[in-house]
Amino acid sequence: MRTVTTRSELDEALAQLPRPVALVPTMGALHAGHTALIAAARRTAATVVVSIFVNPRQFGSAADVAEYPRTLEADQQLAQAAGAHLIFVPNVDEIYPPNEPVANVEPGPLATRLEGASRPGHFAGVATVVSRLFDLVHPDQALFGAKDAQQVRVIEWLAAQRSDQIAIHRVATVRDSDGLALSSRNQLLSASGRAAAAKAIPVALSLIAEACASGVTSVAALRALAERVIAAEPSVALDYLDFAESATLIPLAESAQVGDAASGEVLVSLAAVVDGVRLIDAITLP
Ligand code: PAF
Repeated sequence: MRTVTTRSELDEALAQLPRPVALVPTMGALHAGHTALIAAARRTAATVVVSIFVNPRQFGSAADVAEYPRTLEADQQLAQAAGAHLIFVPNVDEIYPPNEPVANVEPGPLATRLEGASRPGHFAGVATVVSRLFDLVHPDQALFGAKDAQQVRVIEWLAAQRSDQIAIHRVATVRDSDGLALSSRNQLLSASGRAAAAKAIPVALSLIAEACASGVTSVAALRALAERVIAAEPSVALDYLDFAESATLIPLAESAQVGDAASGEVLVSLAAVVDGVRLIDAITLP
């Protein structure tokens, strides 16, 4: 496995690697969620490229960018063990060259609710960097984790806008043994915060999935079940628990039934703050 940092090194390395090429875009601090993306990419592509770039355009402040964990050596080991062939670790000027202005990609209505409501500009930053990575790596496919459900929809929208027909694969969320979805942010939780998060977030979503499977389809009833579980953990501050059509992210009315969604699937997404750390999780209901 090779690590490259410049666009010319990337081009040279890619010229020697077989197609199809899969791209796993990351910001580093790799964990088992990322290695599941790499392993899934191995199954469908001859070459797996992992990009590691802490993208300043998707953060609210320069301080957040500076504080983001950087663990390149450990990331290289994990990526190699998972089967990656090439790691691309560009610096900011390589992605956003000062003499070649990179216009923001604006994803429109998909980006305004849910995470977009509390992080204005975040998804424009994500769409812009992913578009740039697509331009540089020319992958045939790219893989993203289902936990970041709104991000995946934004990227699917981005891929549909482009002419290069990159297939977007969403890979199932990897969970720890306590049910909490893997995230680099979990490291920031205290032991008690983590225990409370695990008792509230995945349990609330599983309750919704189970109740729905056993015939409870009213949005209001499903919400009440989940909110009761979350309220039992006072250190978990719910930001939103949202039921939306998974294709458009348009919210379902409280009076709606899950089967009413025009697109079929319903995305149930949740954000909560624990120990000052914002955690997100999501499931889809058929
Ligand atoms: O999910 C992430 O880690 C980032 O948002 C991504 C997709 C790598 C873009 O910077």
